[in-house]
Amino acid sequence: MSVLNGKKILLGVSGGIAAYKTASLVRLFIKAGAHVQVIMTPASKDFVTPLTLSTLSKNPVHSNFFNEEDTDAVWNNHVELALWADLMLIAPATANTLSKMTTGNCDNLLIAAYLSAKCPVYFAPAMDLDMYKHPSTLSSFKALKQFGNILIPAESGELASGLSGEGRMAEPENIVAFLEADLSSKLPLKGKKILITAGPTYEAIDPVRFIGNHSSGKMGFDIANEAAKLGADVILVSGPTHLKVKNSSIEVIDVVSAQEMFDACHLHFKNVDVAIAAAAVADYRPKNVATQKIKKTVSEFSIELEKTKDILFSLGAIKEKQFLVGFALETDNEIENAKLKIQKKNLDLIVLNSLQDEGAGFKKETNKVTFIDGNFKIEPMELKSKESVAADILGKVVLHFSENS
Ligand code: CTP
Repeated sequence: MSVLNGKKILLGVSGGIAAYKTASLVRLFIKAGAHVQVIMTPASKDFVTPLTLSTLSKNPVHSNFFNEEDTDAVWNNHVELALWADLMLIAPATANTLSKMTTGNCDNLLIAAYLSAKCPVYFAPAMDLDMYKHPSTLSSFKALKQFGNILIPAESGELASGLSGEGRMAEPENIVAFLEADLSSKLPLKGKKILITAGPTYEAIDPVRFIGNHSSGKMGFDIANEAAKLGADVILVSGPTHLKVKNSSIEVIDVVSAQEMFDACHLHFKNVDVAIAAAAVADYRPKNVATQKIKKTVSEFSIELEKTKDILFSLGAIKEKQFLVGFALETDNEIENAKLKIQKKNLDLIVLNSLQDEGAGFKKETNKVTFIDGNFKIEPMELKSKESVAADILGKVVLHFSENS
C-alpha cells in the first residue's frame, strides 16, 4: 500500500506548460488512495482546464478568492484549504510563483494557501534552461529550502523552447516516487521491527476436533496494519482466522497451535525491537492427541489437559532491549491482576480489557481498554474502534522510542 493512501494532498498548479502534466499527477495520486484538492493560479488555466483537474481529483478546483461571475459569491477559504492538507505540492512551480513564495507577495489563492500551510510543502520547479540556472531562481530555491520547503528537482531533457537541458518538471511518476520515499523515510517507526501475535490457537483432540476460542484476530491484525502504516517491519504470527492484512509488506506466519506460535515467536524475537502479544493463546491442550477420530462408544468421556507454554512469559524472561506489550482479559480485580501480570511477564505495557465493560471483548468491532505501563501508571481509554485502539497502542510504542532515542 502506498504511503500516500489516505493522505490529503493540496496541489497548487502555476502557469507553465508543464501544467498539462498535472492531469496525470492527479490520476496517480487518486490511484494511490490519496484525497486531492487543486488550487490553480489564473495563468495556469491557459495550460490545463479546471474541469480536467476537478474531474480527475473528484473535487471542485479552487482558483480565485471568490467566484467573480457568481452574484452569491462565496469566499474561498484558503486557511481552511491549507489546514485540510497533510501535504502541499506546488507543481509546476514557475519562476514567478517561486519568487512570490519567497517574498510572500500574496496576489493569488495559491500563495495565500501556501502562506497558511502548516503541513510539509514540496515544490517541483519547471522553467527553461537559462531561467532554471539564473541566480534569482537559485536564490529562491535556497530561501525556500531555508523555510523548510522541499525541492523536487527538475529533470533534464527537451524543453518547450526547443533548448535541451535541466528545467523540465519532474515526470509525474517521479514526483510520486519522490513523495513516497520522502514520506516513508520520515515515518515514526521506520527501521523498527515489530513482532505481533494474533488470533486464537487450536489445540488438537483428534484429527478432526480441537479446543479453540472465539478470538477473531481483529485486534492483532489492526495492530499489524497500523504498525506497517507507521513504517515498521512487521512479522505477524497468526492463529487460524479469515482476516487478511492490508499491507503486503507485513510478513504473516500462519500457525495453528500454541506450540507453533511459541516456536515462531522465538525464531524472530531476538531480532525485533517490539513484541505485542494480542493472541488468545489456549492455556491448556489435550495431553494426548488421538491419531484416529475418537468414536462415541462410551457414555462419559473426559480429556486430560496439560498446560501450554506461556509465550509472553517466555519472551519476558529473555528480553533484552525489546519493548514488550501484553494483553490482559479480566473479569474481576482487574487492575491488581493486570499489575501482577506486568511483573510476572516482565512487560513494559499491558492493555487491559475488562469484560465488565460493554463493547469490549471477542468478536466486537470496538474495544475499551486501560493502559498500565511498567511503572504502574494507569490510563483508562474511551470505548473506541479496534483500529483506534491499535493506533493508541502504537502511539505508546512511538513515544517509547522518542523518549529513549
Ligand atoms: N499469552 C501468551 N501465551 C499463553 C497465554 C497467554 O502469550 N500461553 C499472552 C496473551 O497473548 C496476552 C497475555 O498473555 O497478551 C495475557 O493472557 P491472559 O490469558 O489474560 O492471562 P494469563 O497470563 O494466561 O493468566 P490467566 O489466564 O490466569 O488470567
